[in-house]
Amino acid sequence: MFEHLPVAPPDSILGLSDAFAKDPRASKINLTVGVYKDEQGRTPILATVKKAEEILLRTETSKGYMPIEGHPEYLKAVVGLLFGGSIDHGRVAAAQTPGGTGALRVGADTVSRHFPNTRIWLSNPTWANHGSIFQAAGLETNVYPYLTADKTSLDFPAMMSELKSQGRRGDLVCLHACCHNPTGIDPTAEQWKEISELLAEKQMIPFVDFAYQGFGDGLEEDAKPLHSLLEKNQEAIVCSSFSKNFGLYSERVGTVALVSKEASFTEAALSQVRQAIRCNYSNPPRHGASTVATVLTDTTLRNEWIAEVNAMRSRISLMRAQFISGMASTGVDRDFSFLSRQKGMFSYSGLNTMQADWLKKERGIYIVGTGRINVAGMASSTMPELCQAIADCLRATS
Ligand code: LMR
Repeated sequence: MFEHLPVAPPDSILGLSDAFAKDPRASKINLTVGVYKDEQGRTPILATVKKAEEILLRTETSKGYMPIEGHPEYLKAVVGLLFGGSIDHGRVAAAQTPGGTGALRVGADTVSRHFPNTRIWLSNPTWANHGSIFQAAGLETNVYPYLTADKTSLDFPAMMSELKSQGRRGDLVCLHACCHNPTGIDPTAEQWKEISELLAEKQMIPFVDFAYQGFGDGLEEDAKPLHSLLEKNQEAIVCSSFSKNFGLYSERVGTVALVSKEASFTEAALSQVRQAIRCNYSNPPRHGASTVATVLTDTTLRNEWIAEVNAMRSRISLMRAQFISGMASTGVDRDFSFLSRQKGMFSYSGLNTMQADWLKKERGIYIVGTGRINVAGMASSTMPELCQAIADCLRATS
């Protein structure tokens, strides 16, 4: 059997990290995968995570199976963090999943088991894995325009007009709650209101990917677009992740939440989510969710964690500002100031695939082929070299 298998192409994001690891150059810089790094280039374990783990080490008495939908206290805390006072939490069927990717897949599986061939609309561009996840679950993927031709801002009229003219009742619309991946370009509060109204009018259902809560404007601020969607839309699927804001990348901690019109529909919704999970990975891993629950349910630890999230966000903003001024000081023609309007870990730099290849080959600087740069991977100490390399690349390739 297996001798007939062709070699699959490397993953467009994670594959680059493999190539980076093999690169022998000491000066190499990895700005590919969305992982937060400190000035020293480390991806730290948060202090609150370490404290929670110490508590768990002392108090945990069993590694028995978790319920299919996951850790009860974790789920209660996550629902609070996501929905706040926006809706009755009784309308939410939430399940813990292996990361945000697991959440997307379980959400999509749950829909497609009962509504085969449901269509989902994805922004163009979107996270490189969205299409594969939804197609693997049996959904039909379509795209709506997202960027202006110069790729520096949101083409809101084009986005709305496509969804309005092509969207159908029962279609899902994948929206990034904040810190759009890969562009860092988010709708304004007013635009979110309009999106919310359009979806409600057309009876399309928001499928919200919420992987960067706290990396845009703050934990509560970043949830506002979701709340705005729920003001007009009675149903939604929300997928969240603690990879970034808890730094729990490898623990795989995420949540899928189905919001129903009424609390009386929640039990059935949750039972379907459970079935999707059971035939996939049976039940979720314990450690990451226990860690998050320990932090979120303890006032002191929770406040310390909020401060840690704020510190990560501030460092990313600082790197973005240093990058913009660093590029300006190289004297290149291209103005990078539009990056200041982008939010979160990523910047859509406007560099093309050929330029990404040039940077990799000539300077050992790795960015995603679409021109996406992980700002959270930059450091002040190497900023001059990075900006100079991009300036040289622009000169060599234009
Ligand atoms: C990214 O976009 O780099 C992250 O979400 C990590 C991943 O799995 O792709």
